[in-house]
Amino acid sequence: MSDQSLRGFVEMVQRDFPDDFVRISAPVRRDLDITSAVFELERSGKYPVVMFDDVEGFDLPVVTNVAGNRQLLAAAMGTSPDDLPLAYRERCQNYQPVEVVGDAPFEEIVLEGDDVDLTKLPIPFHFEVDAAPYITAGQIAARDPETGVDTVGFHRLMLKGKNRLGLSLHSRRRMYEFHRRAEAKGEALPAVITIGTHPIHYMGSMAYHYPPAVRKYEIIGALFGEPYRVAVSRTADLEVPAGAEIVIEGEILADTHEPEGPFGEFTGYASHRSTENVFVAKRVMMRKDAMFHSVASGTAADHILVSSISREAEILNALRRNLPNVTGVHVPLSTVGALMAVVQMKKTAEGQPKQAIMAALGTEFYVKIVVVVDEDVDIFNLSDVMWAVATRTRANQDMTLIHGAMGAILDPTSDPENHTLTKVGIDATKPAGKDFAERLIISDEQRARVRDILQKAQVRL
Ligand SMILES: Cc1cc2nc3c(=O)[nH]c(=O)nc-3n(C[C@H](O)[C@H](O)[C@H](O)COP(=O)(O)O)c2cc1C
Repeated sequence: MSDQSLRGFVEMVQRDFPDDFVRISAPVRRDLDITSAVFELERSGKYPVVMFDDVEGFDLPVVTNVAGNRQLLAAAMGTSPDDLPLAYRERCQNYQPVEVVGDAPFEEIVLEGDDVDLTKLPIPFHFEVDAAPYITAGQIAARDPETGVDTVGFHRLMLKGKNRLGLSLHSRRRMYEFHRRAEAKGEALPAVITIGTHPIHYMGSMAYHYPPAVRKYEIIGALFGEPYRVAVSRTADLEVPAGAEIVIEGEILADTHEPEGPFGEFTGYASHRSTENVFVAKRVMMRKDAMFHSVASGTAADHILVSSISREAEILNALRRNLPNVTGVHVPLSTVGALMAVVQMKKTAEGQPKQAIMAALGTEFYVKIVVVVDEDVDIFNLSDVMWAVATRTRANQDMTLIHGAMGAILDPTSDPENHTLTKVGIDATKPAGKDFAERLIISDEQRARVRDILQKAQVRL
C-alpha cells in the first residue's frame, strides 16, 4: 500500500532526492515571493519542490513546485523520465475502483458557518497583474447532475471574501458541463475543493479521454496501481482524497456571475477571459498541521509539465489506433504544453501525415498546430523540427488550414466572442518511396574518432 498523500510525496523527495528539495525558513511575503521564487529557480535550470515555512501573517507553511520536475513525477510513478508518457498512457486505462476509508486526518479541524474564513489561508498572490490572491492547487470535485458520476480537476480560485471564491471553468470539459446541467435545472452545483494532493492525483485529473461512466478517481487509482483511498464528505456525499491537507465544502452558484481575473495564465499572458462563476464555502476541514499547496502559475513547469505529458500520451494513444507507424509525440513546454504537437512517424504512404494531423487535432482541442516529421527528426529538439519544416515542407501542398475550429478560451488568438480559431497542420515529411535530397550525417564511429582527436588536443567537450 503506497502513501497517496502530498506529505508522503514530499517526504519521499526529501529522502530520495535531497537535491530536489528546498526549504526556505526565512520569512517571505505571500505577495509575489512564492511563485517568483519558482521562476528564479527555473531560470537557473532548477526544478525542486519548495517549502516555505514562514509566510508572514499566516500560520500554515506553503509547498509549491510539486509537479515541475519530470524526474520526480517519474519516481512517483516508479518509472524513468523518458518512459513517463508511455507509463501514463498504459496505466491510465487500468481503472481501479476507489477504497472508501472511515476517519480521515483532514477532519481533525472542522470550521462551519461564521468560523469559515478563507482569508486565513496563505493563498499566494502570484503575479502583479493578478486581481487578488489565487488558490491554484484546488482540486474541485462535483457530480454530473444527470448521471451522478463525479469528476475532479484543478480550477483557479480567486479569493473574494471569507467564504467566497471566484472561479473560471474555461477549459469547458466535465466540470463546465456539470455546472451547465445543474444551472439548466435552476440549481447550484454542490462541490468540494481539496487542497494538498499527491502529484499522481494531479496527473490523473488531467486525463481527458475516457468513457463518461468512468470516474477520475478510478484513473488516479490506475496510475497509483491500487485503489485510490477516499473519504466521504458531508456535501452531497462527494468523495475526497483521504490524504488531503485541506477540504472546503460548498457549491458553485447558479445564474451568478461576478468579475473574476485577470490572472497570470499558462499561456504566458494575463488572462482577462473567464466564465466568472462563484463558489460559496460552507465548511472548511483541515489537518492540525496542514500545509498549504500552491501550483506556481503562468508558464511555470509546475503548471504546464503535467498537461504536456498527458497530451503527449492522449494523442499518441489516439494516433496509434489507426497509424501503428507513429513513433512519438511531443507537446513542447515552449508551446505552453498545449498549443502545438509534433508527431513523428515512419511514413509508408502519402496521406498518412494528413490523417495524423486530423486525428491529433480531433483528440485535443487546445492543440492548434500539428507538425508531422519523419523518424530521423528528433521531436524533442525544436531546432531539428524547424529544420525539417524549412527543408521538407512545400507550403502549397503540405499545409492544412482548418478555419472556425473550437479553440481554448484563454488562447489570445481565439475569437473573443466565440473562441474559435484557425488550426494548422504542417506536413514536414519527405515524399514516400521517392528519392529526396540526402540528409548529411556523421556516423557514430566517425564522431568517436574525432572526439578522441579533440580530447587529445586538450579540447574540453
Ligand atoms: C494548475 C492548473 C490550473 C487549472 N485551472 C483551470 C481553471 O481555472 N479553469 C479550468 O476550466 N480549467 C483549469 N485547468 C484545466 C483543468 O483542470 C483540466 O482541463 C481538467 O482536466 C478539467 O477536468 P474536468 O473534465 O473535470 O472539468 C487547470 C489545470 C491546471 C494543471
